[in-house]
Amino acid sequence: MVLAVEGLVLRRRDGVRLLGPLDLTLAPGERLGLVGESGSGKSLLVQALFGALPPGVLQTAGRVRAFGVAMDQPGPARDRLRGARLAWVPQQPDQALNPLLTLAEQLTLLPGLQRQEPPRAVLARLGPLLARLRLPSDPAFLARFPHQLSGGQRQRLCLAMALSCDPELLVLDEPTAALDASVRQDFLDLALELRRERGLGCLWVTHDLAVAADVCDRLLVLYGGERVEAGPVTRLLETPRHPTTARLLAASRREPSRETGFLPAPQDRPVGCPFGPRCPQAQTSCLDWAPWRGTPGDGLRCQRPLAEGIGP
Ligand SMILES: Nc1ncnc2c1ncn2[C@@H]1O[C@H](COP(=O)(O)OP(=O)(O)O)[C@@H](O)[C@H]1O
Ligand SMILES: [Mg+2]
Repeated sequence: MVLAVEGLVLRRRDGVRLLGPLDLTLAPGERLGLVGESGSGKSLLVQALFGALPPGVLQTAGRVRAFGVAMDQPGPARDRLRGARLAWVPQQPDQALNPLLTLAEQLTLLPGLQRQEPPRAVLARLGPLLARLRLPSDPAFLARFPHQLSGGQRQRLCLAMALSCDPELLVLDEPTAALDASVRQDFLDLALELRRERGLGCLWVTHDLAVAADVCDRLLVLYGGERVEAGPVTRLLETPRHPTTARLLAASRREPSRETGFLPAPQDRPVGCPFGPRCPQAQTSCLDWAPWRGTPGDGLRCQRPLAEGIGP
């Protein structure tokens, strides 16, 4: 299994639960979409997968394994995976770029670290990839610093860095969120093309179901730090059963990048279903989150799921 997350719980230092308990698995070559509106815990989950939680967030239960290695335990096995078999394209390019390093230095850093590959050899090897990403590879360009690039170029540079050690799994955390609408589709097309050519597995984070439909086979829908629905992308788009999924779908059809509404702060989340207060289907039993209808295996967690065949 490429990824195996079991019973993961993340909390703030004051004990407030931010995510979980959450289970997730990803098979080799599989393309999983992680969807949910802003604040639902997508980036925290990604950070947990890399064993790189932000200060102030603690893992209080569960296990996170990638390629059989515990990512929640520091050590050389984990260090060997990060940026090598398991690569990451961040939400903001600045999360992956060091402002003090030239492009050549950024690009040669990971292969140097993970494969002891000399800088000149790395740059020669990456030439065709840079060309595919429409990034010049002449010395003058590579001597630039990140702030001298456009937003689109910076994100394409992040993609080149993520692919620089030929990963088996690429994790993209809303990679187009920081881009202008005009270059968003361009980045998506490039990332999709490269993913397909290399047969890469991917975990693609987005709040836009329209994007997820293009890039994934399977979807996991998060709301308020909890998994509310999961399954094949075609099934979720045709017959969403959790009201949260239906809501995301409606939002993506109206206007792809539209913010989909108000999610309570972690400390203000209800005891029951996190979507309960906003849900048009809610009934009193939804205040009790523990039992849910449907078998645990089908990934749906809702007491009043939308009927089969009834779209949003
Ligand atoms: N470093 C942090 N300290 C405390 N709370 C955090 C931290 N990072 C994220 N959170 C909280 O965790 C929740 C999930 O955040 P995040 O994973 O960034 O959401 P998403 O990526 O789905 O938009 C939010 O309520 C956010 O405020
Ligand atoms: Mg995020």
